[in-house]
Amino acid sequence: MFDTLADAFAAERAAGCTIGSHQPPQSAARLDAAVRAAVQAYVAAGHQDWRALAKFNDSHYVRHLVDENGDFEMILICWKQGQASRVHNHAQSHCWLNVLSGGVEELRYTTGDTPEGVEPAVAPRLPGVISASAPCPLLMPAGVGKVGPGGTAYINDTIALHAVRCDDAACEAAGEEGAVSLHVYAPPIRRVKLYEQEENRVTVRAPGFATIRGVVDADLQDLSRLSSSL
Ligand SMILES: [Fe+2]
Repeated sequence: MFDTLADAFAAERAAGCTIGSHQPPQSAARLDAAVRAAVQAYVAAGHQDWRALAKFNDSHYVRHLVDENGDFEMILICWKQGQASRVHNHAQSHCWLNVLSGGVEELRYTTGDTPEGVEPAVAPRLPGVISASAPCPLLMPAGVGKVGPGGTAYINDTIALHAVRCDDAACEAAGEEGAVSLHVYAPPIRRVKLYEQEENRVTVRAPGFATIRGVVDADLQDLSRLSSSL
């Protein structure tokens, strides 16, 4: 599936389009169709090779980098029941969230007026944290959706922010310990903003991975890093 998508992204670049959330609508629509078709074909074919990468963690949901190139990255995320991301953005990237097993819930938010007088804030002392600022903008719920096996949700920053959590009921019904989702971010996301309303701050963080192409990243085994949101 990675090679199929790599060809689709390369074709758009060859046509003169820059990959990202602001690329021309027709070009973005072609990519959207390509991603959805590739995922549906992969799921319909009953491929199970993703299970070798799909390791859960009791403390946090975990992200596994399947592969990446300059145009996009493909990430497997494992959500045990009860696990959830924080509200976050996707920089200037496309985000396709595809479910391989179980199910996830997506909670969308828009922000209120950008607060004036944004000030630096105390950043959490966690690996990957780059900075923090306050206050956190008002987060207004903008819809809840469910995604099941073979399903795809698409989002970028011009649409909304979101948080994702395991659909516990769907996993329970399917007899799964949790959900597994396959995310395509284009271009790869190097910085993510976490909207932490309870702490009244926005934290900028470099996302981390539990494994990279199937190899455990020894530098990233701090559990706090495994929870990096996207
Ligand atoms: Fe996300």
